[in-house]
Amino acid sequence: MAEEIELVNGGAELIPAVESLWEALFDHHLEVSRSGVATIARELSWPRRRAHYERLFSSHAHAEIWLARNAGGPVAYALWHEDEIDGRRAAVLESLSVLAAARGLGLGTRLMQTVDARARSQGIELSAVDVLSGNDRAMQLYRRYGFEPHAEFWLRSNQHAAPRPESSATAAELAGTLGLELSIDPGPDDTWISSARMASLTAVAERERDPQLLESLFARLEGDGAWTIFVYIPAPPKARPLREELANQGFRRSMERLTRVI
Ligand SMILES: CC(C)(COP(=O)(O)OP(=O)(O)OC[C@H]1O[C@@H](n2cnc3c(N)ncnc32)[C@H](O)[C@@H]1OP(=O)(O)O)[C@@H](O)C(=O)NCCC(=O)NCCS
Repeated sequence: MAEEIELVNGGAELIPAVESLWEALFDHHLEVSRSGVATIARELSWPRRRAHYERLFSSHAHAEIWLARNAGGPVAYALWHEDEIDGRRAAVLESLSVLAAARGLGLGTRLMQTVDARARSQGIELSAVDVLSGNDRAMQLYRRYGFEPHAEFWLRSNQHAAPRPESSATAAELAGTLGLELSIDPGPDDTWISSARMASLTAVAERERDPQLLESLFARLEGDGAWTIFVYIPAPPKARPLREELANQGFRRSMERLTRVI
């Protein structure tokens, strides 16, 4: 089968060609996800993902799609973009999807190798991939390929959060005192039921965190309408105290970031 498959390389013009492949990935994510957050209807997913891909192509120095197709049409794709991780240039493998009928034949590995070769040729030395918690077979494949745990995304999406009294500090100030950096991402999400503006908090400093202050930060974000909150923390052992605190406050691990020197 591998001989009959050609790889096509391109940019944003290939986005429409990956619609059915994205939907195959969406179906798979719904089957395996352990985030505990309700998911959106299938027909809502592609328009949101397409908008996300368009933003990636317009906002990153480098982004590309590798599309695998046979005589019947597209069977797999990889989409990657360049980003900075811990101050290093990195190739982020944003999506990797193989149609169910073509899995286990080496196509996923071939696409990863192709992306690595491209990234290396541009002087990039790190690759990264975010895997949904629960996607155990994909995780096994990446670990076997040499990826190592790097960070975790914890998620709470509380649609019914009650508006809370305002504190005098802004959410960004509150986050800063907790060693967290706040950004507001455009949404809504293409997998989970989420707010239109999603809060992302990155742990940038190691410190003891007062649980009450953390709780008031989350309440503040929810009160401001960003009721979907992602927290990006380093992989264990550094993550341990914050992990426990987040679990106590109803967060679940939604994704794991793996990295690999290429
Ligand atoms: C994960 C995925 C991209 C791998 O591509 P692939 O072409 O099937 O992978 P390869 O043939 O190169 O490698 C096979 C290995 O992939 C892993 N794998 C992961 N999911 C698999 C699946 N649903 N079917 C078969 N193999 C799978 C296995 O570890 C397998 O090794 P094994 O045969 O020893 O169990 C592909 O299976 C897929 O699209 N899965 C569903 C969507 C997904 O999980 N994407 C990754 C998102 S981060």
